[in-house]
Amino acid sequence: MGSAYMEWVKTRTAMKYNLANSGVKSYPLASLPVDFQALQLTGSGAYGYTPLVEALARKCGVPGDCVATALGTSGANHLAMAALIEPGDEVLIEQPGYPLIWEAASYHGANVKFFERRAEEKFAIDVDALRKLVTSRTTLIVLTNLHNPSCALTDGATLREIGGLGPRVLVDEVYLDLLGERTPETSFKLGEQFVVTNSLTKVYGLSGVRCGWVLAAPEIVKKIYRLNDLFGVNNPYVTDQISCVALECLPEIAQWSRELLAKHRAIVNEFLAATPELESDPLAVGTVIFPRVTVPVDNLCQVLRERYETVITPGHFFGASERVRIGIGGETAILQEGLARVREALKQRSI
Ligand SMILES: Cc1ncc(COP(=O)(O)O)c(C=O)c1O
Repeated sequence: MGSAYMEWVKTRTAMKYNLANSGVKSYPLASLPVDFQALQLTGSGAYGYTPLVEALARKCGVPGDCVATALGTSGANHLAMAALIEPGDEVLIEQPGYPLIWEAASYHGANVKFFERRAEEKFAIDVDALRKLVTSRTTLIVLTNLHNPSCALTDGATLREIGGLGPRVLVDEVYLDLLGERTPETSFKLGEQFVVTNSLTKVYGLSGVRCGWVLAAPEIVKKIYRLNDLFGVNNPYVTDQISCVALECLPEIAQWSRELLAKHRAIVNEFLAATPELESDPLAVGTVIFPRVTVPVDNLCQVLRERYETVITPGHFFGASERVRIGIGGETAILQEGLARVREALKQRSI
């Protein structure tokens, strides 16, 4: 039991032109006004470091007892599923999607069933099709908003409809803040059947701080913290304090991230327009593109790796083997050269 995808990420993406990341590059630590001499190694906060819980509650506009802190959205998804899934439960999960979601659900004993997000529908959720899949044994529906890997937004009306289907709905909102000023309220506010996971990792370039959280009804939050006693006991106290500083600076960090992604969006959209072998609408919002590829994906990825020091993510990991995912949130020069290399590789006869 494990994640083939995560193993691939950890062992196969250390390459000069790494376009496999879905997040924004690291925010410079020196730009965070952390007083390192004042950090404490240990302190109070057995079930959530209170200043962090309060800061997250303010950010999300929810009561503090609805927040459980976690290690990234990965940790948040794991904890939420540990609390929500009983072995044998039927869980409906989007596909294409983020593999860790169904891998974690399976780990917790779920009987995973997939619902399709069709490329022809711009990866929108077809609620009528989803409704047909719900049975008396379905206890949970899981989706990402924005959708990884397509960056599609699911609007509030659709989410409300999904919430009306009966089962609880777990929404991973790790990419939602990419919408900036247009970011809707968290779907946690749409009703008591919604549980939400999120973190400061992907949008804000703070992956290293691992500040994640679950938004859930207070009794679920209590269950999560009790379960976490079996998994990690507490988040590192040092990074909890750094997370508080980051949350105070979030508007500046968001601005930095927005400017970077706006610049990179222009670069990748120009690339897409000049690369007919990669079929995709221009990227409007998001950190990745997910084009359909007109040549064999495995050949392309192999040639990129072996001859061009470039890595992109093959779509089979997400359940779409005719596609690739290319991340745009890294260093500008790496993105430009990496995309140029993808174009060069596509010209090779051997592909
Ligand atoms: C949908 C989704 N959820 C969670 C994660 C993991 O996020 P974190 O780094 O916050 O654990 C990712 C990472 O790619 C993701 O795409």
